Amino acid sequence: MQHFITPANAPPFPEIDCGEGVYLWDRAGKRYLDGSSGAVVCNIGHGNARVKAALLKQVDRVSFAYGRVWESEANEDMAARLVRMADWGYGACFFVSGGTEAVEAALKLARQLSVARGRPDRWKVISRAPSYHGSTLAVLGVTGDPDFGGPFAPMFVMHPKVPAPLSYRPAAGMDAEAYATHCARELERRIAEEGEDTVLAFIMEPVGGVSTGALVAPDAYYREIRQICDRHGVLLIFDEVMSGAGRTGKFLAAHHWRECRPDIVVLAKGLSGGYAPLGAVMTTGEIVDEVRAMGGFLHGHTYAANPLACAVGAAVLDELERRELIARAAAMGERLQMRLKEVQARRDCIGDVRGRGLLCAAEIVADRATKRIFPAEAGAMDKLRALAMEEGLMLLSRRTSGGRFGEWLMACPPLIVSEEEVDMFAEMLDCALKRFEDWAAREGFV
Ligand SMILES: Cc1ncc(COP(=O)(O)O)c(C=O)c1O
Repeated sequence: MQHFITPANAPPFPEIDCGEGVYLWDRAGKRYLDGSSGAVVCNIGHGNARVKAALLKQVDRVSFAYGRVWESEANEDMAARLVRMADWGYGACFFVSGGTEAVEAALKLARQLSVARGRPDRWKVISRAPSYHGSTLAVLGVTGDPDFGGPFAPMFVMHPKVPAPLSYRPAAGMDAEAYATHCARELERRIAEEGEDTVLAFIMEPVGGVSTGALVAPDAYYREIRQICDRHGVLLIFDEVMSGAGRTGKFLAAHHWRECRPDIVVLAKGLSGGYAPLGAVMTTGEIVDEVRAMGGFLHGHTYAANPLACAVGAAVLDELERRELIARAAAMGERLQMRLKEVQARRDCIGDVRGRGLLCAAEIVADRATKRIFPAEAGAMDKLRALAMEEGLMLLSRRTSGGRFGEWLMACPPLIVSEEEVDMFAEMLDCALKRFEDWAAREGFV
């Protein structure tokens, strides 16, 4: 029985059997290096015994206690750890079941704050194109990729977009720095165009996820967008669903730019490392007090602050600290980027290698000189992922906005990856790319 509605002509998914450390095994016994940590989720790898023990302990105590009625040691512990590790004076967390839910909760929290502050006209949320923030109807309005909106367009409110400061594909005549400055100014221009008094928030991924292929902007960009938001009373929301929980070599990717503290941070994925559905919204004590004073947050889900998910999340954060995995992400990320650049020197189809920590990507092109991408009918990323799987490497890829911004492979192994495994990742990718280039030449795509 299929669990997902795939296109009619799509090949069936391979069947997973088990996972351990950075590896997965299919039902035929073939081993794969989990080069993308699933969907950039499994930060502490598979089969972690301590997380399993924490989960079972919580099941023995209580699995469910409704968050609107009960406080639990598990969610108190999780909130305290999260706020401590975020290390930025945040005062409260709200837990949900995943990234999209967390983004939606953050938007509602921002809106309620604005109403509490006597600014009911502020409701627009500016985001970047391209970007990904989730897939429910409300959140589709801020996700900056029309591929996800498609048939649902009449059903949601599309919020304003500003260009993401793409480093490999800046606007004509600009280098990456100049384009980033231009993009920051576009934010200010757009706030004015929309009418400052109508703009509630600006949301962005501080290190891009799959939508931009691990985009990192120049340092000045972060300073500038913080200043712009401050100048115009716009809340700054960082979507750290993918970049948070240590993946970029800091607990929050925002920590790379200390002068740019977001007002609200959204986390999920690595927060529970794939061991339980968990997302979080974190914000300052002042914001929470203001929302509390107007009657509390008008939001909730049955599984909000679920003790089982929070106990798992606390155990995952404990592992990050106990095994010093955040520093490891920084070190292994540098090694991975170095190895990917070596592969790039041999393989013309890699146009760019970028990222921070273990949130990395390799942009794939048909022609490096012109940055031309493969035509849609080539299905280049599907082909490349299939070849990598044959080599024993699981990868994630994206052709954002129908290829308008390029297409890339994510290189995001679990944070527990060893030096030898990073080297193995690069070797397997190199073999897959060699076969991919031969295929592309045979098919006449290059
Ligand atoms: C940056 C970002 N925000 C939000 C989401 C949505 O999270 P979820 O798929 O858990 O709903 C994702 C998922 O990939 C993401 O990468």
